[in-house]
Amino acid sequence: MAQDDHRILELRAIRERARLGGGVERIDRQHAKGKLTARERLELLLDAGTFNELEPFITHQLNDTASVERHLGDGVITGYGQIEGRTVYVYAQDFTVYGGTLGEMHGHKICRVMDLALRNGVPIIGLLDSGGARIQEGVKSLGAYAEIFRRNVQYSGVVPQISVLLGPCAGGAAYSPALTDLIIMVEKNSYMFLTGPEVIKTVTGEIIDAESLGGAVVHAALTGTAQLVAPSEVEALALCRRALSYLPSNNVENPPFVTPLDDPLRMDDSLNSIVPLDPGVAYRMHDVIESVVDHGSFLELQPDWAQNAVVGFARLGGHAVGLVAQEPSIMAGVIDINASDKMTRFVRLCDCFNIPLVTFVDSPGFLPGVGQEHAGIIRHGAKVLYAYSEATVPKISVITRKAYGGAYVVMSSKYLGTDVNYAWPSAEIAVMGAEGAVNIVYRNQIAAAADPQAERERLVQEYRRQFSNPYHAAGAGYIDDIIEPRETRAKIITSLAALRDKYAPAPPRKHGNIPV
Ligand code: HXC
Repeated sequence: MAQDDHRILELRAIRERARLGGGVERIDRQHAKGKLTARERLELLLDAGTFNELEPFITHQLNDTASVERHLGDGVITGYGQIEGRTVYVYAQDFTVYGGTLGEMHGHKICRVMDLALRNGVPIIGLLDSGGARIQEGVKSLGAYAEIFRRNVQYSGVVPQISVLLGPCAGGAAYSPALTDLIIMVEKNSYMFLTGPEVIKTVTGEIIDAESLGGAVVHAALTGTAQLVAPSEVEALALCRRALSYLPSNNVENPPFVTPLDDPLRMDDSLNSIVPLDPGVAYRMHDVIESVVDHGSFLELQPDWAQNAVVGFARLGGHAVGLVAQEPSIMAGVIDINASDKMTRFVRLCDCFNIPLVTFVDSPGFLPGVGQEHAGIIRHGAKVLYAYSEATVPKISVITRKAYGGAYVVMSSKYLGTDVNYAWPSAEIAVMGAEGAVNIVYRNQIAAAADPQAERERLVQEYRRQFSNPYHAAGAGYIDDIIEPRETRAKIITSLAALRDKYAPAPPRKHGNIPV
């Protein structure tokens, strides 16, 4: 057998050194923290054996090698591979090399795969684990971040961008994910903040640990910055693969079709009685959604934040859809500032990636109160209007119960450009609820009555008879059909099929000016 050329042996030795990143000791430290290495993560993320690395020989270009050891790859592994047979570009920061920090060449490698992803019209996935800007590289690392941020922005809405946070993500390492479509975090081992606990202590005197400052729970439930959280790295990477299955590879493709195991014409009789007769009694919109979509296909985003609103991907008849809804069992499904932001971002995500929108409406309106008004609910609520009006994907809405006032209008109403508007017989479409309306309109009449209480009750009943049903709205053409709840799934699926070739070009302009 021929001896391998010594140059081949040398290449193998160098490659092996590159594989070890910051060295065995630091890898052990990474494992001891319950974290995987960048290479182990890529193996879990991608289909087996599909990863191809790019630029593994890059090192930092600092002259002063005494203060910064030279590691092959410069702390980030980049390349391409496949997920469910579809090409994706990836980068995985290696915390064992300078804490995964970003310097000039590290940034160059990330930009390179971002550019290739764009050029080839495929998603870019970042696995982040980084102390942010690399101190030793000064402005070069700041400039490198700017290069990444610009690409995050310019490629937004062209190819899907997903960030999986698998360790500390400080400074720039938090801002880049914030510009991407989805952020996935891991409980306990991932956190993101602009300035860490030490800096905060110095500047404001506040004492807090990293987890309480910017851990997964904080960003899932308090800030709404993370869309998905997993209990472990393995599950976070699996979640990334699942999320990608609802997204097309780019903005001129449709999302992948998955042959449905669930009958598209399946009826669910239990839906006919899910809405209680008493409008003050709640039910769970989650139950409605689970019943309507293909079995097991609902992937809720931001489930712990602004829970009065529900957003997430699902499939109907095998086709991906974006679901937006109110959850009447939380704050009666009222729309507040956080719910507005949550729905807006999701509607825009679906619109840029050709994912039809299905909206379930049950809301008494925007949340009244000084706090909300002064915190800018007008500005935030306007975003929902903007997003629905702007969206050109097929849009279908189903009013299950309350659609009062602003909630009726913003939640995918007909004249915001929605294609098909359904209502259940339990729908109440009115400017406001019966009690509030009667107190305003008939105040004098009630006051003058011999028995004001009885008169108010009579007027409330009269108002309900007139407005607290969908027939008034349907009679005036605001609703396309009143359907039995049990047939909702079949109705939406057949409507989506009829809308598959929808063509609704927007007027040419540079870009709109959404009220942020
Ligand atoms: C260079 C860094 C570094 C940094 C960490 N390291 N942060 N090297 N620049 N910013 C190195 C450490 O020296 C160490 O090297 C290795 O990474 C691991 O760090 P440890 O501190 O030992 O790990 P750990 O205890 O897990 O703490 C990780 C950490 C902490 C939370 C990330 O290191 C930290 O707080 N770093 C500073 C974070 C930060 O403030 N970054 C700048 C953000 S400003 P050895 O050789 O021992 O392995 C920014 C501006 C961007 O990003 C602009 C945005 C608009």
